[in-house]
Amino acid sequence: MQETKQKKTSLPLPPGSFGLPIIGETIQWFRDRNFIDKRYKKYGSIFKTSLFGRPTVYACGAEANRFLFTNENKYFVATWPKSTRILLGSYSLATTTGTFHTSRRKLIYQAFQPRALASYIPTIEHFTKKYLEKWEGMKTLTWYPELRKYTFDIASTIFVGTDGGSDTRLSVLFEDLSAGLFSIPNPLPWTSFGKALRGRNEMLKEIEKIVLRRQQESNLGEDALGLLLQAKDEDGNSLSLDELKDQIILLLFAGHETLTSALTSFCLLVAQHRDVLSRLQEEQAKLNFSEPLTLDSLKQMTYLEQVLKEVLRYISPVGGGFREVIQECEFKGYTIPKGWSIQYQIAKTHEDASIYNNPDRFDPDRFSLDKAENKQQSFGYIPFGGGLRECLGKEFARLEMKIFAAMLIRDYDWELLSNQDLNLTTIPTPKPRDGLQVNLHHRDK
Ligand code: HEM
Repeated sequence: MQETKQKKTSLPLPPGSFGLPIIGETIQWFRDRNFIDKRYKKYGSIFKTSLFGRPTVYACGAEANRFLFTNENKYFVATWPKSTRILLGSYSLATTTGTFHTSRRKLIYQAFQPRALASYIPTIEHFTKKYLEKWEGMKTLTWYPELRKYTFDIASTIFVGTDGGSDTRLSVLFEDLSAGLFSIPNPLPWTSFGKALRGRNEMLKEIEKIVLRRQQESNLGEDALGLLLQAKDEDGNSLSLDELKDQIILLLFAGHETLTSALTSFCLLVAQHRDVLSRLQEEQAKLNFSEPLTLDSLKQMTYLEQVLKEVLRYISPVGGGFREVIQECEFKGYTIPKGWSIQYQIAKTHEDASIYNNPDRFDPDRFSLDKAENKQQSFGYIPFGGGLRECLGKEFARLEMKIFAAMLIRDYDWELLSNQDLNLTTIPTPKPRDGLQVNLHHRDK
């Protein structure tokens, strides 16, 4: 025991700089898009810095991902800024750890099993058709804000049981809540945190009304809300009303921003690669599916599957994830002390030339069965994270992306408008600076 301790403390800390006292390198982190790249080039795949008053280690690459994901709850636990913890609520799956987290994950997963996913298809198809027709009528549109409404309509219908939601009070409250998630937790009413807190409290009231109404009905329903109301843990307990409300808010939040970013990136990248679009159109023409789609028919869209995988590699909606170190550990010859933060890197992993050939090229064929570059190193393809905290909504996200993409490609074509800024802003998730302005038209009209 003594020996292990001595061995650990004799190893150096990772290279890097803590910057200024207290604020560390937080300002550079916010201001400099190439913050990680610069340090990665200077120090290598593991380095230290100080962010938000805390020493932080960046660990990049598949090996680092494996180390982090396989030591969840042993060396590391999830950590979020104080504002996020308060606004998501104390029961939220994202902020709980250990056995409580594992047991709650199993329970909430009941709303994401294949049978449940299949039952969401008609809702996704309904909103996809509705929005495609709307955009066809608009002819010229800025896609990102439209896709935000689209994903919110689907999520609120499936997870909250409303019929749509982007035009309702719930959506306004949700936008207030989202805007304050990563803010200074000052609760004064005019601050973004204060507004977000009010948004959360109002949302809780709205959701409570919906849940109580649903509980009066003889049939609780087969949507996610119905499934969560009926779900039981290993001891036969269901979610309390307070917990259910927190988990619903999490599902709205976790799925909304990320999916909107992913769909926008799909529309951007496919418009920029007409050869990919032609092959996608050929696949749809050959399969000739019409609604209602099924999990089986979607599975046959193999080229589309490759394109979606490449979209998530090329522009990862989530850049990485933070953990808190709960026990001192060693990695690559360095000590990582207890109490520090550590961040794993999704985008950096996906740019790694030892995993991906010409990683800067958008190339869906890298995911073809014979190449399968993502299988070359485990934990080398991680758009949804990994291990015990891997994205719970992964299959739901893939389902919605696929239905959206299939229906769009089958019937529509679109071109990017000139004179727009397509550079990506990355906080909170990547999107083109001008929101992706396009002309969209029906292919047969
Ligand atoms: C393309 C879309 C999406 C991407 C790229 C994505 C990515 C991620 C990532 C990287 C994590 C892990 C974060 C960490 O390690 O700290 C995560 C967690 C999570 N995601 Fe997603 N996500 C997406 C869509 C969704 C959707 C649609 C839902 C639900 C409707 C969802 C629900 C969750 C939940 C509940 C967690 C927390 C899991 C836990 O802590 O046990 N996500 N997501």
